Amino acid sequence: MPLTRKAYRAAILHSIDDPAIVGIDASYEYFEDGLLVIDNGQISALGHASDLLPTLPADIDITHYQDALITPGLIDTHIHLPQTGMVGAYGEQLLDWLNTYTFPCESQFADKAHADEVADIFIKELLRNGTTTALVFGSVHPQSVNSFFEAAEKLDLRMIAGKVMMDRNAPDYLTDTAESSYQESKALIERWHGKGRLHYAVTPRFAPTSTPEQLTLAGQLLGEYPDLYMQTHISENKQEIEWVNELFPERNGYLDVYDHYKLLGERSVFAHGVHLCNDECARLAETGSAVAFCPTSNLFLGSGLFNLPMAEKHNLNVGLGTDVGGGTSFSLLQTLNEAYKVMQLQGARLSPFKSLYLATLGGARALRLEGKIGTLQPGTDADFLVLDYNATPLLSYRLKQANNIAETLFVLMTLGDDRTVLQTYAAGQLVHQR
Ligand code: GUN
Ligand code: ZN
Repeated sequence: MPLTRKAYRAAILHSIDDPAIVGIDASYEYFEDGLLVIDNGQISALGHASDLLPTLPADIDITHYQDALITPGLIDTHIHLPQTGMVGAYGEQLLDWLNTYTFPCESQFADKAHADEVADIFIKELLRNGTTTALVFGSVHPQSVNSFFEAAEKLDLRMIAGKVMMDRNAPDYLTDTAESSYQESKALIERWHGKGRLHYAVTPRFAPTSTPEQLTLAGQLLGEYPDLYMQTHISENKQEIEWVNELFPERNGYLDVYDHYKLLGERSVFAHGVHLCNDECARLAETGSAVAFCPTSNLFLGSGLFNLPMAEKHNLNVGLGTDVGGGTSFSLLQTLNEAYKVMQLQGARLSPFKSLYLATLGGARALRLEGKIGTLQPGTDADFLVLDYNATPLLSYRLKQANNIAETLFVLMTLGDDRTVLQTYAAGQLVHQR
């Protein structure tokens, strides 16, 4: 028996498919008295405690939780590390918000000591909130990504990040050039991509802040290395879309700019997509690209309401993003709370099981990491959470009135936040304890 075998006994819940495809009942597995067995950082068994216990050695190390739910680690498909210090910046919509708050805040990452300090705060905040994998924007400075990956590597986290490429329409103190962004990204890819559980994402900020030359080189990088990610923003705000149309009059709309520069594909994640049209959803789906749905940000910046049913109609991969600092919380539970309201405002329903899917397996599919993260299936990485039903007096009282796991899950997503996350495990190691 391997020395690192451990088992965890509690109620256990995970998504196994998209409710929009298989229906709600076939989309999840729930074990009221479940057992999760971990061997050497990977899940080796999942099932009812009564079935599994007789198959295990009598002296196995079992942690037994009362009033708690084990779920997969949560997956944030869109977040900005250098915006940690500006969450909740008052009064502006996207373009003025960028100029007034975002660019000055990101400029501080020219200093490596600052980058180290914020990377540490940022990773602790992710883990406190139960996020075990994130697709992360750095600043334009390569050290923002070095600091982040250095900290993530120490905890053996599965993380994806990239340095922002932006060579126009931003202050001089925050721009690179097409050539320097290419060389700096390349050096980061050589150092980090595929190291342990780390992956690199080519990161043009959005079409307005890149010249055609820079977008060309971003596309070239994607062709030069296998399995690289690409992350950017799209169709978040109406003024932004107008601006893209003015800057790229020769292209047939916002998505076509990225398409032209070969930035669509199976590892490409486009944040927001609030104002995408049917044809654009179809093209994203056809190329295997994904969209990050960022409800707290879309409400906070007044950007609009993401049309999830339209994305579902096109079989488009959708993950959930906090978009901190446009988003107002690191908590994907709180992000789901807002996602529910975004659907309500459009006369649609977001079931708790679809929400669970978006924050776990849906994110893993958007990132092409199904089979590694996003579920508790044996053979996957042991990235999981223990959620505490008694995290706050109100949660404790409210959950006593819940009649089934659907209700319990919905209340966890409505009242839950970082306080709800009792423990976070990554690759089988405890990386956060409340
Ligand atoms: N579009 C371009 N840059 C950004 C950013 O930093 N945040 C958001 N929400 N949208 C963007
Ligand atoms: Zn963003």
